[in-house]
Amino acid sequence: MQRRRRDMAAPAPAHQPEVPLDDREFSRIAALVHNLAGIVLAEAKRPLVHSRLIKRLRALNLPDFASYVDLLATQGNEAERLELVSAVTTNVTSFFREQHHFEFLGKRALPPLIARAQGGARVRLWSAGCSSGEEPYSMAATLLALCPDAHRHDIRILATDIDRGMIEKARRAVYAPDAAAGLAPEAARRLFGDLKPGGALQILEAITRLVTCNALNLQDNWPMKGPFDVIFCRNVVIYFDKQTQERLWQRFAALLPPGGYLMIGHSERVTGPALGLFTTDGMTTYRRR
Ligand SMILES: C[S@@+](CC[C@H](N)C(=O)[O-])C[C@H]1O[C@@H](n2cnc3c(N)ncnc32)[C@H](O)[C@@H]1O
Repeated sequence: MQRRRRDMAAPAPAHQPEVPLDDREFSRIAALVHNLAGIVLAEAKRPLVHSRLIKRLRALNLPDFASYVDLLATQGNEAERLELVSAVTTNVTSFFREQHHFEFLGKRALPPLIARAQGGARVRLWSAGCSSGEEPYSMAATLLALCPDAHRHDIRILATDIDRGMIEKARRAVYAPDAAAGLAPEAARRLFGDLKPGGALQILEAITRLVTCNALNLQDNWPMKGPFDVIFCRNVVIYFDKQTQERLWQRFAALLPPGGYLMIGHSERVTGPALGLFTTDGMTTYRRR
């Protein structure tokens, strides 16, 4: 009897989490996430989903994942559904990530657009899936280097993401000191001005004033009518299924004027009906016909 009691008190082995995420609840969560955000949670993601969502269970004082999924399904629980999406999204990003796009932007895409803006035209760029803001601020820094009085013209950058926490961070525009670690000194100066050793990094106001950050789920209706002259949607659709990706390419194409650019992530490709609407300039730079 004594031995039995000791066995029951023994901690669960490391590979068996105390609150398991079984097949049924994982499938329900995956279906919900796909429905909400278009994101595919493959079986291989189960441990990651478990480790991220167990924190929500604890915060909400729930005993198991079945209760959590029931709560998510409750009408009017939009806030928790946003928490769910936020918990399962991957927000990895960095300043001037996939730098060739910023070189292309500075050398090829922006000069004629700046000339048009200087002539009074409206010019818009969009960072769709901007995470914590590093991408749109890198776009704005590239613009400002070419056009120091950009704010006097009608040339602006929209930055959107489904994850409200990321949008708040993007709006704050304050980054940890190591965010500048891999940057060339000139690029860091363009973003932050003169760096103070060890201090938090604040994006220059001349840059933030060019960027508007808003929460937006790419699967929803978009309030913007466009057109956008340049769209960056990089390392976002990689998490979507093929059908969702192809629908998105068509929606982007519909907002780009002839000659407008679409930049996508290094492991992504435009496929499906929209492919015929673009020419390519390198593997991940597309131009609207
Ligand atoms: C890996 S980050 C990419 C950030 C940046 N574009 C880059 O390349 O560095 C992917 C971002 O896409 C966002 N995302 C995922 N699904 C989305 C959706 N349905 N609508 C809008 N944003 C979404 C995530 O919240 C995340 O911040």
